[in-house]
This record gives sequence, structure tokens and C-alpha cells, in this order.
Amino acid sequence: MHIGITGSTGFIGQNLVPELLKRGHKVKVLVRDPHRKILWDDVEKVEGNFQTPDALQQFLMDLEAVVHCAGAIRALRMEDYVKGNYTTTKILVDAINQFKPKDLKKFIFLSSQSAQGPSVGLAPRRFDEPPSPVTWYGKSKLMAENYIVNYLEYPYIILRLALVYGPGDRETFRFFQYVKKGIFPMPNGEKYLSVVYVKDVVRLITFILEMENHIRNRIYFVAHPQYHSLSEIVDGIKSLFGKKKVAKLSIPEAIFRPALKVNEIIASIACKATIANSDKANELAEKYWIGDPAPLIAETGFKPEYSLMEGLFETLEWYKKEGWL
Ligand SMILES: NC(=O)c1ccc[n+]([C@@H]2O[C@H](COP(=O)([O-])OP(=O)(O)OC[C@H]3O[C@@H](n4cnc5c(N)ncnc54)[C@H](OP(=O)(O)O)[C@@H]3O)[C@@H](O)[C@H]2O)c1
Repeated sequence: MHIGITGSTGFIGQNLVPELLKRGHKVKVLVRDPHRKILWDDVEKVEGNFQTPDALQQFLMDLEAVVHCAGAIRALRMEDYVKGNYTTTKILVDAINQFKPKDLKKFIFLSSQSAQGPSVGLAPRRFDEPPSPVTWYGKSKLMAENYIVNYLEYPYIILRLALVYGPGDRETFRFFQYVKKGIFPMPNGEKYLSVVYVKDVVRLITFILEMENHIRNRIYFVAHPQYHSLSEIVDGIKSLFGKKKVAKLSIPEAIFRPALKVNEIIASIACKATIANSDKANELAEKYWIGDPAPLIAETGFKPEYSLMEGLFETLEWYKKEGWL
């Protein structure tokens, strides 16, 4: 299958592309930074971004599927989330509708649990509940989803991913760093969250790409069915390090919110997009981020397989092998 990937230089993209190549697919990537080295020889690279129509046309030509991984998880200002998640998606959808790639059968969009919002207590958020995002990141993802649903003239599948962890991830890498140091900050104390290992995400995307087209125009929440407390994640990493003690430091909102605001101001002065900003404070203030992957499992037959400990083990091995830890 001829598959176009946006965001191939990111964490999930870097895990996805080699698997697609291994399975014999032809891969084309849209890359905004012309100096960015593409790690794989047999990938077709189109240089450009969502503002360059010629590049978009060249990217879309002859594709049978698009996996839209590009998205802004870090930002300088709130409107950067809208630009990086909604505007880019709108431009891509408009370009697909305009250029009408004749063989295009599937469009997969990587959305986020943030688009549907947190859960109340330990009951997983019901999938049919109306979305209530609490961050600009989540709102911008929801705006992108709505644009796809309302305007894309081709079959789509939207994946609302829970927290993804695994080889190459810089965000959950912090968890490993904190545990190694023996002190783990817990903003607003204990939390409960759905998570998914990146190899399960990659397996799901390839599963959707390769399955017959009978499932289309659906939105799914994607996570391992077993949710975890933050303490369980910390203790899991702790046991893999063979450490005896890690101090879990509960940080009240009155402290982490202004601290993230200060970090946002510093990042803004340095012109460097950051995930540690006021938007993140809204996410961290919520205690329950539990979603329900049951509709995905029931309708597609696909089930994330990696248990937390299996995923953490592989991830830690990767960080060590690559010299990150
Ligand atoms: N990782 C998670 O836990 C998680 C959870 C839920 C949803 N998601 C979604 O999954 C997707 C991939 O996530 P990730 O973890 O791989 O993120 P990532 O490592 O930050 O990678 C983001 C990718 O998107 C590209 N990108 C960002 N803004 C762009 C823009 N304005 N124009 C063009 N390209 C842009 C980046 O290109 P450069 O390399 O040039 O910067 C990079 O290739 C994102 O849409 C994210 O929102 C991720």
C-alpha cells in the first residue's frame, strides 16, 4: 500500500515508519525541516509544510492512505495549539478534497484523549459523553476532529490516543529521569490514567491500514484496557531500576500552576515551544484521565496487548541502549 505520513519525525512517526517498511508498504513523508535527516533510505521525502500547496499536492499524489501524525503537543502561546493541530489538519483536509487523490481509501488522524476530556472518578469516561476538553491542546484536537468529520470527502478513522509511552518518547522519559534521581513530583497528588505502549499504537495503525474498508468514519479511544495510578507507574519503573526508595512529592496546584506560568514566560522569551505551560497546568489539575477502549476492541477486534510492565521494561532498555539514561 502507498502510505503518506505527516509528523514522521516525531515520537510515534519514528516508530511507525520502520514497521510499515518492514511490512512491505511504500512510504512517503512530508517533512517541514529540509535539514532534517530521514533515517530510512527507501522512503520518499517531500519537503514542505502545510502552507506550501505544491508540496502538499506532491505529497498526496498516488497515495492510498494518509496517516496524519503531525500535531503540536508543545507551544509558546495558546493559539499555537490551534495552528499546529486544527489549522494544519484543515489545510490537509482541504488539499485532499481539492486534489482528490484517486486511490485514497483511508485517512487516519492521531487525536488525543485530551479532545474528549478527563473522567469523573474511577469510572472510565463513557465514549458517548459529549467532549469536554480542559486544555487548548484538547480543544484544538477536537476542532481538528470536527473538521475531518464534517468536511473530509474520504473515509476516516480518528484515534483518540491515551498517554503514549515507549522508545524515543521525550515526555514520559521524564518519569524515568525522576525515578532514577529518587524523587518524583506528583502535581495535585495521586492520579489515575489510561496509557498505551507505542508498539500497540503502531500495530493498531497498521491493522487499520491493512484491514478491509468495512470500518470507516469512526472515532475510537485507544488505550490498554487496564488503567493505572501514577504511583503504580512510578513503582513499576522503580522496580525495573532495582531501586529501594523513590520519594513521591505531592505538589499542590497553588505551587505547580504559577511555576508552569513562569516556565511559559521563560520559554516565550527564549522562543522555544514547551509542554510545561499554563495549558499543562489545566491537565495536571485533573485527577482522572481514564477512557474506555471497549468500542475499539468490540468493533475492530483489535486489543492493545502490552502490559504496563512489559512496555516499561522495553522502554527502559531502549533508553539505556541509546545512552539516554
Ligand atoms: N505522544 C503522546 O502521548 C500522544 C498522545 C495523544 C495524541 N498524540 C498525538 O499523536 C501525534 C504524534 O505525537 P508524537 O508524540 O509523535 O509528537 P511529537 O514527537 O511532538 O511529533 C510531532 C510531529 O509533528 C510535526 N509537527 C508539529 N507541528 C507541526 C506543524 N505545525 N507543521 C508540520 N509538522 C508539525 C513535528 O515535526 P518536527 O519534527 O519538524 O517538529 C513532528 O514530526 C500528535 O498529533 C499528537 O498530538 C500523542
